[in-house]
Amino acid sequence: MRKNMVAGNWKMNTTLPEAQALISEIVHMVQDETTGSEVEVVVCPPFPFLLPVGKLLPEGGAFHLGAQNCHQKASGAFTGEVSAAMLQSVGCEYVILGHSERRQYFREDDELLSQKLKAALAAGLKPIFCVGETLETREQGDTFKHLEKQLQDGLFHLSNEEFDKVTVAYEPIWAIGTGKTATSEQAQEVHAFIREQLARAYDAKAAMATSILYGGSCNAQNARELFSQPDVDGGLIGGAALKSRDFTDIIKSF
Ligand code: 13P
Repeated sequence: MRKNMVAGNWKMNTTLPEAQALISEIVHMVQDETTGSEVEVVVCPPFPFLLPVGKLLPEGGAFHLGAQNCHQKASGAFTGEVSAAMLQSVGCEYVILGHSERRQYFREDDELLSQKLKAALAAGLKPIFCVGETLETREQGDTFKHLEKQLQDGLFHLSNEEFDKVTVAYEPIWAIGTGKTATSEQAQEVHAFIREQLARAYDAKAAMATSILYGGSCNAQNARELFSQPDVDGGLIGGAALKSRDFTDIIKSF
């Protein structure tokens, strides 16, 4: 179901005490300052902190736990890897897949990501599937072509029932961690294009029911403007998710 959502991707940051302090502050601020449930808040700490951070989330409210990655196989001899079922068993509801940092630094391609999506869904996790173009691709005028291919090869193999569980995140690579945000017009243009592709691959109803998040230097100052766009349903937040005041203000931006 389409909903307003703010997801915090903590990436490889925080120690356990820092993670616990951060989530405690966020929970208190959100509980004190917001009225309720019209925003779904997903926190995605590093693997070792999923359980302790999850324990600090109030049950049945706006908060949900997510992971930043999972392996494509259900179990087995894959030293150092983490399966979707493991994540589900420690309370994860969501998993980020296809983040540009995974694609770039860990060579995750559309074929691998399509397997990861299947594994996540089979374990009952809801994927947040990321797409986005480099600055070079944008300057060459190939943004839409690039996104179409990422969606086609990574996502559109899913059945209607599977697709129903997916949130899409548009994260232009040139905006991630750079302080350079897409303008609200640029974000809206791409989000509308993505929704059009979803409608073509599934149907208009499914496309309208899918949340599409924006990510890339989204902060407390620009979130309101971005989230006011008709096809922007929230944000996938990196740096600003590590500051309780900023993250809470982003949650309050709808
Ligand atoms: P920043 O918000 O730090 O640009 O990171 C965005 C991101 O990659 C979230 O997944």
